[in-house]
Amino acid sequence: MAAVAVSVAGLLTLSACGGGDKQDTAGGPAAHKKVEVFSWWTGPGEADGLKAMRDIFAKENSNFEFFDAAVAGGSGDQARALLSSKLQANQPPDTFQGHAGAELQGYIKSGKLESLNFLYDELKLKDVLPQQLIDQITVEGQVYSVPVNIHRSNVLWFNPSVLKGAGISGAPKTVEEFVADLEKVKKSGKIPLSIGSQWTLVHLLESVLLGSLGTDAYNALWTASSDWSNANVTKALDNFKTILSYAGTPQDDWQPAAKQVADGEAAFNIMGDWAYGYFHNPPEGGLGKESKKDFDWAASPGTDGTFMWLSDSFTLPKGAPNRDGAIAWLKVAASKEGQDAFNPLKGSIPARKDADQSLYKDYLSWSLEQWAGDKLAGSIQHGVVANDTWRTAITDAVGLFQQDKDVAKLQQALVAAAKNSGQ
Ligand code: GAL
Repeated sequence: MAAVAVSVAGLLTLSACGGGDKQDTAGGPAAHKKVEVFSWWTGPGEADGLKAMRDIFAKENSNFEFFDAAVAGGSGDQARALLSSKLQANQPPDTFQGHAGAELQGYIKSGKLESLNFLYDELKLKDVLPQQLIDQITVEGQVYSVPVNIHRSNVLWFNPSVLKGAGISGAPKTVEEFVADLEKVKKSGKIPLSIGSQWTLVHLLESVLLGSLGTDAYNALWTASSDWSNANVTKALDNFKTILSYAGTPQDDWQPAAKQVADGEAAFNIMGDWAYGYFHNPPEGGLGKESKKDFDWAASPGTDGTFMWLSDSFTLPKGAPNRDGAIAWLKVAASKEGQDAFNPLKGSIPARKDADQSLYKDYLSWSLEQWAGDKLAGSIQHGVVANDTWRTAITDAVGLFQQDKDVAKLQQALVAAAKNSGQ
């Protein structure tokens, strides 16, 4: 009987989601209003963090039922396109994960989101969130999302034994050292650099641009006076071409590429610190690997002293079918308890300044220190510096480059992408 009851409930959940109306109108003590939470955290490592926050939500909200509307694909490569069409059609989920910065500003400017000033006032969030983060999610005095974390994009993950086997004594500090090390690994017979699906190349590109140009010149690329046509950008793109020539066979997504490093098949992978959650979390969610032995990390080459950041944040779309449920979710995402449950598993540090720092160990305590002291640069792939139009044009250009390896063509496409972004 119990099993039947569960499966009927499951069917109700599914049909409620598909039909767009998530209100359970059956009544009675068992009735819950479903809250559709849209993200892309389905994969190993990422789903653990979401589950931790979901458990808190369930404990605190017996009147609501969390409905996981996650769409698979790292960095939201499938989810973001679907979300945009749902919003266009005015069929929003109750809440969705969006990146602080230019990506979210796009949704704000097209009138898709409700202002959350009322929630910021009620929860006194301006006292506990960094001002530079609030600035990224504010338009004309209105704040539009609740940031749950800070991720770092410019991390070089490596396998210490593979490096040793290739005669490399430590992580490369500059792009030139990196290229020399890639060559040494190649000679040792291992994969020098692992890569995943196409978006992971844009992720790699942002680290190579930052490491080649330096922080100020990188940051200038996203201002009104940006110049993508200059010789320094050409040099950075040449570096990208050289580094890519050492890449192994593209894997399906970021997890299998990161796993090649943890398993000792590959030496290096440049990926955000969600990889830490994946490496470190116990088996089932993660790989249960040992830090400093099975994997180690450093700032991606040439970027030491700069934190290339991004932030996952949750929103209240206009017309959310279950607005109260969405607000209940946002309250968990905003809370110290929610952030301290989510982030240690997600591989990120909390957006809140008053989180319990003792929970952030190993890589995460390094990240907290860097966040406090480093210069900042924004991620391209993960929505900080470029709006969706711009990022999509960059992705297309990198996709073509993967085929033709033509630096001049790539640079022309990047010049055009900047010009046509409408940002
Ligand atoms: C980023 C997102 C992270 C992580 C990563 C890989 O865009 O902000 O939370 O999920 O993609 O999927």
